[in-house]
Amino acid sequence: MSRRILAALGSAALALSMAACSGDGAGSGNTSDEKPSDLTIGVSMPTQTSERWIADGNSVKEKLEAKGYKVDLQYAGDDIPTQSQQVDQMITRGANVLIIAAIDGTALSGQLQAAADAKIPVIAYDRLIRDSPNVDFYVSFDNYKVGVAQASALLVGLGLQTKDGGKGEATGPFNIELFAGSLDDNNAHFFFNGAMDTLKPFIDAGTLKVKSGQTKIEQVAILRWQQEAAQKRMEDLLTSSYNDNSKVDGVLSPYDGISRGIITALQNAGYRGADEIPVVTGQDAEIASVKLINDGIQSSTIFKDTRLLAEQAVVAGEAFLQEKTPEANDSETYNNGVKVVPSYLLPVETVFKDEIQKVLIDSGYFTAEEVASGQSRN
Ligand code: GAL
Repeated sequence: MSRRILAALGSAALALSMAACSGDGAGSGNTSDEKPSDLTIGVSMPTQTSERWIADGNSVKEKLEAKGYKVDLQYAGDDIPTQSQQVDQMITRGANVLIIAAIDGTALSGQLQAAADAKIPVIAYDRLIRDSPNVDFYVSFDNYKVGVAQASALLVGLGLQTKDGGKGEATGPFNIELFAGSLDDNNAHFFFNGAMDTLKPFIDAGTLKVKSGQTKIEQVAILRWQQEAAQKRMEDLLTSSYNDNSKVDGVLSPYDGISRGIITALQNAGYRGADEIPVVTGQDAEIASVKLINDGIQSSTIFKDTRLLAEQAVVAGEAFLQEKTPEANDSETYNNGVKVVPSYLLPVETVFKDEIQKVLIDSGYFTAEEVASGQSRN
């Protein structure tokens, strides 16, 4: 039997079990005969230290509230026990659907079992929850393609490739360093794999040299995606591998917060103006980094429109509340270790300085004033 059919059967079974539980009170997944104002969606977000998760949380909340639902939105301060406790509370307070962006993708199995026991559908938001059969749906972006886009942006920034994928004018060789995200976040592996598949031919040919020799994800990962940890690792790399007057030409960075840490380390070490700072990539189009791109300091970011992601989470949540199966556009890629989770994946866009106006300002994501100041109004 194909995975697609299995997934459909799984969802049908879920809908049936939800129907069977009609009216059994708090946490009952069956809701089609209830008004939106009787229904609560628990939204568990990882941290408020990163602007993107604040935007995600706000978008999901606003969109659900606009449809009349009650929303229980919690941030866990990047602390795993706090997130577990918050999800537990959402379940005991009678959430009808859970939308969760996990801190550690493997740490919520107990909570998800409790949710399944209470017939509460669970939607993994941007980060897949692993090692649990009780993840009903996944909304995210094409995470492998994010990694490909990051590596391609590095190649374009260095002049080895053109934006349309053609051969660039530069020949190298260039010194680069690699960074990855948090190992407990499933996405970090997809980003790194996509990037390394793209960079490998250039590394093999000697056009790109990872001077530190650190090319394994375990060597380059940054726990919890922390800016300070990234700054420290870049400082260590400069001391250990670039103390012979050699220069770093490019840095693969998987996330804007990490990029800002890298840039600070480079600036402190004497790489100053736009022409001295190496090509640094990023992700999330956080406003502080968009300003750095506009100022010629950071080279690029990958824009993931959190408004669209929030919209998909709301569409999927509402489908579950109406005992329908949310529409997936990928039923193969995201195996969480126990099952393939049906997913809705959104496309991403690479943003260099030239794309800021069209992709970020014209679309209403940021105003020109926000880009100029590096501060968002929210
Ligand atoms: C990942 C997410 C990235 C970035 C990172 C750090 O899970 O996919 O877009 O936000 O977390 O927050």
